[in-house]
Amino acid sequence: MIGKLIRKKQHTTKRNDLARRIEMAQMESRPAHISIIMDGNGWWATKKALPRVVGHYEGMKTVRKITKFANKVGIKVLTLYAFSTENWSRPKTEVDYLMRLPVEFLGTYLPELIEQNVQVQMIGNHDNLPEHTKYAIKKAVEQTSRNNGLILNFALNYGSRDEIVQSVQQIVNKAQNGDITCEDICEELVSEHLMTSHLSDPDLLIRTSGEIRLSNFMLWQLAYTEFWFTDMLWPDFDEECLMDAIESFQGRNRKFGGLS
Ligand code: FPP
Repeated sequence: MIGKLIRKKQHTTKRNDLARRIEMAQMESRPAHISIIMDGNGWWATKKALPRVVGHYEGMKTVRKITKFANKVGIKVLTLYAFSTENWSRPKTEVDYLMRLPVEFLGTYLPELIEQNVQVQMIGNHDNLPEHTKYAIKKAVEQTSRNNGLILNFALNYGSRDEIVQSVQQIVNKAQNGDITCEDICEELVSEHLMTSHLSDPDLLIRTSGEIRLSNFMLWQLAYTEFWFTDMLWPDFDEECLMDAIESFQGRNRKFGGLS
């Protein structure tokens, strides 16, 4: 009984503390666009002697939690690296499972996302995604297109080098057709041909699971992004962790190559 009361009190204290942190964070400029490399699902499961896919399933639940929280804090865009162009090299069973996750996630949580005014978007190459994955994404994108809350942007079958190559191809095509000249090619033009052309560059990049690398993620867009790395595995990542990252961002001095 006493244990139960203590746990309840701790839970209430934690919730109140988080509410206070949100309030404080909202008084300062927040990162408009946060991108996350959600790493550590496999390791989380292996540590518990569970199949790797269980870790991905838990990771999916974290996606739900963090989306809801980011929306609450007033983040405009949340880009989540869900599957890279290199992830096809994983065992087929794992790839199949990862391709089912958007179906599972959107099949379960789409009504909730709609209710929260979240807009679902996707960057990456649609072409070789299985039909069921494409269908789930298309439906979610269509049904949330008029929402104007948080943009939940899934990077799925996404690779930054692939994206840059496609951008260069489109630009060269335009030049060959005489639509642009060599002098028209500038940073803005390249950005306009990336899959993120309609989004601002990420202000904050988070990577979980203690790995310190970008893994072919948004290489162009991250030029002046603030990085935040944590040892926490993605299934364990929670609201407090996201607040830690946001508060760390708010304590930084962004100079964009100039002087403060
Ligand atoms: C990185 O590797 C993670 C992935 C390839 C998948 C991430 C996917 C999710 C978190 C779920 C996505 C949910 C939706 C709704 C699309 P790993 O975690 O396998 O790495 P590890 O083996 O180093 O732990």
